[in-house]
Amino acid sequence: MDNKSIIIAIDGFSSCGKSTMAKDLARRIGYIYVDSGAMYRAVTLYCLDNRLINDGVVDTQRLASAMGEIVISFANNPTSGKQETYLNGVCVEQEIRNMRVSNSVSLVSQIDFVREALVAQQRRLGEAKGIVMDGRDIGTAVFPDAELKIFVTASARTRAERRAAEMQAAGENADIDAIERNIAMRDEMDMTRKISPLRKAHDAIELDNSRMTIDEQNAWLLARYEETIARL
Ligand code: DC
Repeated sequence: MDNKSIIIAIDGFSSCGKSTMAKDLARRIGYIYVDSGAMYRAVTLYCLDNRLINDGVVDTQRLASAMGEIVISFANNPTSGKQETYLNGVCVEQEIRNMRVSNSVSLVSQIDFVREALVAQQRRLGEAKGIVMDGRDIGTAVFPDAELKIFVTASARTRAERRAAEMQAAGENADIDAIERNIAMRDEMDMTRKISPLRKAHDAIELDNSRMTIDEQNAWLLARYEETIARL
């Protein structure tokens, strides 16, 4: 193996399997994995729990003064071996994935000061390189100099089916049509928001994984990593 540490940015639409492939690669090559979407979800959960979202409107004044109190961290669950998200010291991994949070996260992730705070934290996490981060703006805004950038796409229906299977596996009810509508709404909001809209970085490699198995996409990503390292 080599000792060149790089930054790997994986962006794309929601529920495209970005985190599955990002986690797999990080585990295989011994890199840190960071789910930037979980950070936006955790801020959204904080807003919902503290009644900062009313009738689809975020109380940005109160949120701005609360930002300093919102501490997001990640820790490995020793039993499952999986990484979990913490909000102010409490594990919120399950709660941040539910529809209540999914339906409001686009509102919160449009707010400039939320993005600035989370992007600053994401850059600190990547200071030592050796990191795989997934999200919407990792290759465009967070790490524009990342050595490897991937942009993942898949059809909205395929993505809804995958998310429903995940929810069912976690023992939750899943309405595929409602999930597909939520995905389409988030695609639209992610692509049209003013700050850091979702778009492919000019130097990103595009992957449509609609017809790929998880093993195939993991192998594809590992091959892109090996090519990148060989070029350095
Ligand atoms: O990847 P995800 O579905 O868990 O992301 C949740 C939301 O957070 C998504 O609707 C868009 C937003 N997001 C973002 O704006 N920028 C990121 N880097 C990651 C996620």
